[in-house]
Amino acid sequence: MTTEMDSARTDHRRAWVRLKEYSMLAALLVVPERWRAGAFFELRGDRSRLTEQSSYRNMGYWKDDPGSLDDASEALADLLGEAAGLGPEGTVLDVGCGFAEQDVRWVERFAPRKIVGLDLMPSQVAAGRRRMARLGLADRVDLRVGSATSLPFEAGSFDQVVALECALHFVTREDFFREARRVLRPHGTLALVDPVTTGGNSGIHGYLERALGAIPRANAYSTEVYADKLRQCGFENVQVRSLRDEVYGGFARYLARRLDDPEVTGRMNAALLMIWRQWVQAWQATTTDQAAYAGNQDYILVVATAPGQNP
Ligand SMILES: C[S@@+](CC[C@H](N)C(=O)[O-])C[C@H]1O[C@@H](n2cnc3c(N)ncnc32)[C@H](O)[C@@H]1O
Repeated sequence: MTTEMDSARTDHRRAWVRLKEYSMLAALLVVPERWRAGAFFELRGDRSRLTEQSSYRNMGYWKDDPGSLDDASEALADLLGEAAGLGPEGTVLDVGCGFAEQDVRWVERFAPRKIVGLDLMPSQVAAGRRRMARLGLADRVDLRVGSATSLPFEAGSFDQVVALECALHFVTREDFFREARRVLRPHGTLALVDPVTTGGNSGIHGYLERALGAIPRANAYSTEVYADKLRQCGFENVQVRSLRDEVYGGFARYLARRLDDPEVTGRMNAALLMIWRQWVQAWQATTTDQAAYAGNQDYILVVATAPGQNP
Protein backbone atom coordinates (compact mmCIF):
# COMPACT_ATOMS: atom_id res chain seq x y z
CA MET A 1 0.00 0.00 0.00
CA THR A 2 2.77 2.40 1.05
CA THR A 3 4.73 1.50 -2.10
CA GLU A 4 1.69 2.25 -4.28
CA MET A 5 1.20 5.60 -2.58
CA ASP A 6 4.89 6.43 -2.93
CA SER A 7 4.84 5.60 -6.61
CA ALA A 8 1.65 7.68 -7.12
CA ARG A 9 3.37 10.58 -5.36
CA THR A 10 6.46 10.20 -7.57
CA ASP A 11 4.29 10.14 -10.73
CA HIS A 12 2.43 13.20 -9.52
CA ARG A 13 5.68 15.05 -8.80
CA ARG A 14 7.10 14.09 -12.21
CA ALA A 15 3.94 15.28 -14.00
CA TRP A 16 4.13 18.57 -12.11
CA VAL A 17 7.80 19.07 -13.10
CA ARG A 18 6.97 18.32 -16.77
CA LEU A 19 4.10 20.81 -16.67
CA LYS A 20 6.47 23.47 -15.34
CA GLU A 21 9.06 22.63 -18.00
CA TYR A 22 6.57 22.89 -20.85
CA SER A 23 5.17 26.14 -19.40
CA MET A 24 8.66 27.62 -19.70
CA LEU A 25 8.61 26.68 -23.37
CA ALA A 26 5.10 28.08 -23.83
CA ALA A 27 6.24 31.34 -22.22
CA LEU A 28 8.81 31.73 -24.99
CA LEU A 29 5.99 31.85 -27.52
CA VAL A 30 4.11 34.65 -25.82
CA VAL A 31 6.62 36.92 -24.09
CA PRO A 32 7.57 40.10 -25.98
CA GLU A 33 10.79 39.80 -27.97
CA ARG A 34 12.83 41.91 -25.59
CA TRP A 35 12.32 39.41 -22.73
CA ARG A 36 12.64 36.29 -24.81
CA ALA A 37 16.40 35.85 -24.46
CA GLY A 38 16.01 35.85 -20.65
CA ALA A 39 13.30 33.16 -20.82
CA PHE A 40 15.36 31.15 -23.34
CA PHE A 41 18.53 31.11 -21.24
CA GLU A 42 16.51 30.28 -18.12
CA LEU A 43 15.32 27.19 -20.03
CA ARG A 44 18.94 26.42 -20.96
CA GLY A 45 20.12 26.52 -17.34
CA ASP A 46 22.87 24.33 -15.91
CA ARG A 47 20.65 21.22 -15.69
CA SER A 48 20.25 21.32 -19.46
CA ARG A 49 23.91 21.82 -20.34
CA LEU A 50 25.37 19.87 -23.25
CA THR A 51 29.02 20.30 -22.33
CA GLU A 52 30.72 17.66 -20.20
CA GLN A 53 33.15 19.75 -18.14
CA SER A 54 32.98 23.43 -18.99
CA SER A 55 30.18 25.97 -18.91
CA TYR A 56 30.42 27.15 -22.52
CA ARG A 57 27.07 27.74 -24.23
CA ASN A 58 28.06 27.79 -27.90
CA MET A 59 27.99 25.30 -30.76
CA GLY A 60 31.75 25.00 -31.11
CA TYR A 61 34.23 24.86 -33.98
CA TRP A 62 34.62 21.26 -35.20
CA LYS A 63 37.24 21.60 -37.93
CA ASP A 64 39.96 19.45 -36.39
CA ASP A 65 37.57 16.87 -34.96
CA PRO A 66 37.59 17.85 -31.29
CA GLY A 67 36.25 14.98 -29.21
CA SER A 68 33.76 17.00 -27.21
CA LEU A 69 31.71 20.18 -27.19
CA ASP A 70 34.03 21.49 -24.46
CA ASP A 71 37.01 21.31 -26.82
CA ALA A 72 35.02 22.58 -29.81
CA SER A 73 33.75 25.58 -27.79
CA GLU A 74 37.25 26.38 -26.68
CA ALA A 75 38.44 26.18 -30.30
CA LEU A 76 35.70 28.65 -31.27
CA ALA A 77 36.77 30.99 -28.46
CA ASP A 78 40.38 30.74 -29.65
CA LEU A 79 39.37 31.53 -33.22
CA LEU A 80 37.46 34.61 -32.09
CA GLY A 81 40.26 35.76 -29.78
CA GLU A 82 42.79 35.50 -32.61
CA ALA A 83 40.52 37.27 -35.09
CA ALA A 84 39.93 40.10 -32.60
CA GLY A 85 43.69 40.48 -32.13
CA LEU A 86 43.52 40.05 -28.34
CA GLY A 87 46.88 40.71 -26.73
CA PRO A 88 48.70 42.15 -23.70
CA GLU A 89 47.92 45.77 -24.56
CA GLY A 90 44.18 45.48 -24.86
CA THR A 91 41.14 46.26 -22.75
CA VAL A 92 38.39 43.94 -23.94
CA LEU A 93 34.61 44.04 -23.65
CA ASP A 94 33.04 40.56 -23.93
CA VAL A 95 29.33 41.05 -24.57
CA GLY A 96 26.99 38.11 -23.88
CA CYS A 97 29.78 36.52 -21.82
CA GLY A 98 27.52 33.82 -20.30
CA PHE A 99 29.46 32.04 -17.56
CA ALA A 100 32.67 33.73 -18.82
CA GLU A 101 34.37 30.44 -19.64
CA GLN A 102 36.04 32.03 -22.70
CA ASP A 103 37.35 34.90 -20.54
CA VAL A 104 39.36 32.43 -18.45
CA ARG A 105 40.75 30.96 -21.68
CA TRP A 106 41.57 34.38 -23.15
CA VAL A 107 43.39 35.50 -20.00
CA GLU A 108 45.53 32.34 -20.17
CA ARG A 109 46.11 32.46 -23.89
CA PHE A 110 46.31 36.18 -24.80
CA ALA A 111 46.90 37.89 -21.43
CA PRO A 112 44.91 41.09 -22.17
CA ARG A 113 45.27 43.90 -19.66
CA LYS A 114 41.64 43.59 -18.64
CA ILE A 115 38.43 41.87 -19.72
CA VAL A 116 35.03 43.27 -18.84
CA GLY A 117 32.27 40.69 -19.38
CA LEU A 118 28.63 41.71 -19.68
CA ASP A 119 25.55 39.48 -19.70
CA LEU A 120 21.82 39.81 -19.32
CA MET A 121 21.50 36.87 -16.90
CA PRO A 122 22.33 37.72 -13.26
CA SER A 123 22.66 34.01 -12.37
CA GLN A 124 25.38 33.46 -15.01
CA VAL A 125 27.26 36.60 -14.02
CA ALA A 126 27.13 35.59 -10.34
CA ALA A 127 28.46 32.09 -11.15
CA GLY A 128 31.20 33.65 -13.33
CA ARG A 129 32.22 36.04 -10.54
CA ARG A 130 32.49 33.22 -8.01
CA ARG A 131 34.69 31.35 -10.46
CA MET A 132 36.97 34.36 -11.08
CA ALA A 133 37.36 34.81 -7.32
CA ARG A 134 38.28 31.12 -6.92
CA LEU A 135 40.84 31.37 -9.74
CA GLY A 136 42.31 34.63 -8.41
CA LEU A 137 41.27 36.44 -11.61
CA ALA A 138 38.79 38.94 -10.15
CA ASP A 139 41.12 41.89 -10.83
CA ARG A 140 41.63 40.83 -14.48
CA VAL A 141 38.06 39.81 -15.38
CA ASP A 142 35.29 42.15 -14.25
CA LEU A 143 31.82 40.64 -14.82
CA ARG A 144 28.66 42.74 -14.89
CA VAL A 145 24.95 42.39 -15.54
CA GLY A 146 23.71 44.55 -18.39
CA SER A 147 22.34 44.75 -21.89
CA ALA A 148 24.27 44.71 -25.16
CA THR A 149 22.04 47.41 -26.57
CA SER A 150 22.63 49.90 -23.77
CA LEU A 151 26.26 49.42 -22.78
CA PRO A 152 26.99 50.98 -19.38
CA PHE A 153 30.40 52.37 -20.44
CA GLU A 154 31.79 55.68 -21.61
CA ALA A 155 32.60 56.30 -25.26
CA GLY A 156 36.02 55.06 -26.38
CA SER A 157 36.61 52.73 -23.39
CA PHE A 158 37.74 49.53 -25.17
CA ASP A 159 40.31 48.30 -27.69
CA GLN A 160 38.23 45.27 -28.63
CA VAL A 161 34.56 44.41 -28.36
CA VAL A 162 33.82 40.71 -28.85
CA ALA A 163 30.64 38.64 -28.82
CA LEU A 164 30.81 34.86 -28.90
CA GLU A 165 27.59 33.45 -30.36
CA CYS A 166 25.12 35.84 -28.84
CA ALA A 167 24.45 38.87 -31.08
CA LEU A 168 21.60 37.03 -32.85
CA HIS A 169 19.60 37.33 -29.59
CA PHE A 170 20.13 41.06 -29.06
CA VAL A 171 17.11 43.30 -29.57
CA THR A 172 18.41 44.39 -31.94
CA ARG A 173 21.78 43.32 -33.24
CA GLU A 174 22.02 46.62 -35.11
CA ASP A 175 21.51 48.62 -31.89
CA PHE A 176 24.40 46.63 -30.45
CA PHE A 177 26.60 47.52 -33.46
CA ARG A 178 25.96 51.24 -32.71
CA GLU A 179 26.79 50.77 -29.06
CA ALA A 180 29.93 48.75 -29.88
CA ARG A 181 31.14 51.53 -32.12
CA ARG A 182 30.50 54.11 -29.40
CA VAL A 183 32.49 52.27 -26.71
CA LEU A 184 35.40 51.35 -29.01
CA ARG A 185 38.49 53.53 -29.20
CA PRO A 186 39.39 54.90 -32.64
CA HIS A 187 40.70 51.99 -34.77
CA GLY A 188 39.37 49.51 -32.20
CA THR A 189 38.14 46.08 -33.31
CA LEU A 190 34.70 44.51 -33.20
CA ALA A 191 34.81 40.72 -33.62
CA LEU A 192 31.91 38.30 -33.51
CA VAL A 193 30.98 34.74 -34.22
CA ASP A 194 27.30 34.70 -34.92
CA PRO A 195 24.65 32.41 -36.42
CA VAL A 196 22.80 34.05 -39.29
CA THR A 197 19.30 33.13 -40.32
CA THR A 198 17.49 34.83 -43.16
CA GLY A 199 14.14 33.87 -41.65
CA GLY A 200 13.39 31.95 -44.85
CA ASN A 201 10.40 30.30 -43.20
CA SER A 202 7.40 32.54 -43.19
CA GLY A 203 4.06 32.45 -41.32
CA ILE A 204 3.62 30.39 -38.19
CA HIS A 205 6.61 28.16 -38.95
CA GLY A 206 8.92 31.18 -39.14
CA TYR A 207 7.42 32.61 -35.96
CA LEU A 208 7.98 29.36 -34.06
CA GLU A 209 11.53 29.06 -35.33
CA ARG A 210 12.39 32.58 -34.19
CA ALA A 211 10.47 32.42 -30.92
CA LEU A 212 11.93 29.07 -29.85
CA GLY A 213 15.44 30.26 -30.74
CA ALA A 214 14.97 33.72 -29.13
CA ILE A 215 15.84 35.43 -32.41
CA PRO A 216 14.11 38.80 -32.90
CA ARG A 217 12.45 39.27 -36.26
CA ALA A 218 14.64 42.30 -36.95
CA ASN A 219 17.77 40.09 -36.80
CA ALA A 220 16.73 37.75 -39.61
CA TYR A 221 18.74 38.78 -42.68
CA SER A 222 21.48 37.57 -44.98
CA THR A 223 25.23 37.84 -44.51
CA GLU A 224 25.38 40.62 -47.13
CA VAL A 225 22.82 42.69 -45.23
CA TYR A 226 24.76 41.95 -42.02
CA ALA A 227 27.95 43.46 -43.49
CA ASP A 228 26.00 46.46 -44.87
CA LYS A 229 24.49 47.15 -41.45
CA LEU A 230 27.97 47.22 -39.90
CA ARG A 231 29.11 49.74 -42.53
CA GLN A 232 25.98 51.85 -41.97
CA CYS A 233 26.84 51.89 -38.26
CA GLY A 234 30.21 53.39 -39.14
CA PHE A 235 32.49 50.32 -39.19
CA GLU A 236 35.27 49.97 -41.75
CA ASN A 237 37.21 47.00 -43.20
CA VAL A 238 34.27 44.66 -42.62
CA GLN A 239 35.45 41.10 -43.17
CA VAL A 240 33.11 38.12 -43.07
CA ARG A 241 34.08 34.45 -43.16
CA SER A 242 31.57 31.62 -43.26
CA LEU A 243 32.11 28.92 -40.62
CA ARG A 244 28.89 27.11 -41.51
CA ASP A 245 30.57 23.87 -42.51
CA GLU A 246 32.85 23.81 -39.47
CA VAL A 247 30.11 24.53 -36.93
CA TYR A 248 26.70 23.03 -37.74
CA GLY A 249 27.68 19.53 -38.92
CA GLY A 250 30.00 18.74 -36.01
CA PHE A 251 27.57 20.21 -33.49
CA ALA A 252 24.59 18.28 -34.91
CA ARG A 253 26.51 14.97 -34.80
CA TYR A 254 27.65 15.62 -31.24
CA LEU A 255 24.15 16.68 -30.20
CA ALA A 256 22.59 13.54 -31.69
CA ARG A 257 25.03 11.48 -29.58
CA ARG A 258 24.39 13.48 -26.41
CA LEU A 259 20.62 13.17 -26.79
CA ASP A 260 21.02 9.39 -26.74
CA ASP A 261 22.79 9.52 -23.39
CA PRO A 262 20.45 8.83 -20.44
CA GLU A 263 22.67 10.91 -18.15
CA VAL A 264 21.81 13.96 -20.31
CA THR A 265 18.18 13.18 -21.12
CA GLY A 266 17.47 12.32 -17.47
CA ARG A 267 18.42 15.78 -16.22
CA MET A 268 17.55 18.00 -19.20
CA ASN A 269 14.41 20.13 -19.32
CA ALA A 270 11.94 17.93 -21.26
CA ALA A 271 10.73 20.81 -23.43
CA LEU A 272 14.28 21.72 -24.41
CA LEU A 273 15.02 18.07 -25.15
CA MET A 274 12.10 18.06 -27.58
CA ILE A 275 13.39 21.23 -29.30
CA TRP A 276 16.95 19.89 -29.62
CA ARG A 277 15.64 16.58 -31.06
CA GLN A 278 13.65 18.49 -33.66
CA TRP A 279 16.66 20.67 -34.43
CA VAL A 280 18.80 17.58 -35.13
CA GLN A 281 16.10 16.14 -37.40
CA ALA A 282 15.67 19.43 -39.25
CA TRP A 283 19.42 19.74 -39.70
CA GLN A 284 19.68 16.18 -41.02
CA ALA A 285 16.90 16.99 -43.50
CA THR A 286 18.48 20.26 -44.70
CA THR A 287 21.83 18.59 -45.35
CA THR A 288 20.10 16.47 -47.98
CA ASP A 289 18.79 19.71 -49.51
CA GLN A 290 21.95 21.73 -49.92
CA ALA A 291 20.12 24.74 -51.38
CA ALA A 292 17.91 25.10 -48.31
CA TYR A 293 20.90 24.58 -46.03
CA ALA A 294 23.01 27.21 -47.77
CA GLY A 295 20.13 29.61 -48.33
CA ASN A 296 18.66 30.03 -44.87
CA GLN A 297 21.46 29.54 -42.43
CA ASP A 298 25.01 30.58 -42.01
CA TYR A 299 27.42 30.91 -39.13
CA ILE A 300 29.93 33.68 -39.54
CA LEU A 301 33.11 35.11 -38.13
CA VAL A 302 33.02 38.89 -38.54
CA VAL A 303 35.78 41.41 -37.92
CA ALA A 304 35.35 45.17 -38.40
CA THR A 305 37.29 48.28 -37.43
CA ALA A 306 36.01 51.43 -35.75
CA PRO A 307 36.91 54.57 -37.68
CA GLY A 308 39.86 56.78 -36.72
CA GLN A 309 37.60 59.34 -35.08
CA ASN A 310 34.56 58.75 -32.94
CA PRO A 311 31.36 60.56 -33.96
C1 LIG B 1 24.61 31.24 -26.62
S1 LIG B 1 25.02 32.07 -25.13
C2 LIG B 1 26.76 32.32 -25.32
C3 LIG B 1 27.45 32.57 -24.01
C4 LIG B 1 28.99 32.62 -24.12
N1 LIG B 1 29.43 33.67 -25.00
C5 LIG B 1 29.54 31.28 -24.56
O1 LIG B 1 29.94 31.15 -25.74
O2 LIG B 1 29.55 30.36 -23.73
C6 LIG B 1 24.37 33.73 -25.43
C7 LIG B 1 24.49 34.65 -24.22
O3 LIG B 1 24.01 35.94 -24.61
C8 LIG B 1 23.36 36.52 -23.48
N2 LIG B 1 22.47 37.59 -23.96
C9 LIG B 1 21.35 37.48 -24.71
N3 LIG B 1 20.83 38.70 -24.96
C10 LIG B 1 21.64 39.60 -24.35
C11 LIG B 1 21.66 41.03 -24.26
N4 LIG B 1 20.70 41.78 -24.83
N5 LIG B 1 22.64 41.62 -23.57
C12 LIG B 1 23.63 40.88 -22.97
N6 LIG B 1 23.67 39.53 -23.03
C13 LIG B 1 22.70 38.89 -23.71
C14 LIG B 1 22.63 35.36 -22.85
O4 LIG B 1 22.27 35.60 -21.51
C15 LIG B 1 23.67 34.23 -23.01
O5 LIG B 1 24.50 34.15 -21.89
